Amino acid sequence: MHIMSYIDLQLKSDKVKNVVIGLNRLLANYHIYYQNLRNFHWNITGQNFFNLHEHFERLYDDAGERIDAIAERIATLRYKPESRVSKYLEMADVEEAFGSAGDREMVKKLLDDHRTLIGNMRQVIEEASEAGDEGTIDMMGGFLSTLEKNSWMLDAFLGDESHTGMTSSSLRREKTDA
Ligand SMILES: [Fe+2]
Repeated sequence: MHIMSYIDLQLKSDKVKNVVIGLNRLLANYHIYYQNLRNFHWNITGQNFFNLHEHFERLYDDAGERIDAIAERIATLRYKPESRVSKYLEMADVEEAFGSAGDREMVKKLLDDHRTLIGNMRQVIEEASEAGDEGTIDMMGGFLSTLEKNSWMLDAFLGDESHTGMTSSSLRREKTDA
């Protein structure tokens, strides 16, 4: 049995394992997402180059810090964070982006990746509540709200470009109300 006394004696160590499995999957997904952002930062062209080139950099800087925090949370829980890229590729649900893509395609792909990461985080929160692991729940909550905000921004970018904001948001509202 691990010596976990510096964390919390009430942590249910058998359930913590499931938290760690989820955190390692999140770590894998975040790495692929990070690399997708770098790809888009390097390969963006067109009239939105300056905005998106910089925005993608802000996002991957943020993702880099999250990656480190997730890995260190796993270590804090006395498990090994996965560090092999080959394993990340096996474990991740986020797919690698490749080939040429326009700016709107890039943003849509990132929104997709965010959905995967958010789903992943919600699952970790569920496992963490089972384990009584408040530290992980707290961390995931902060990550989730940032990612949701970043998703809103990317979604706003898509909305502004294709049609007047009025039409697109009212159409979407009708859809969700139904
Ligand atoms: Fe750069």
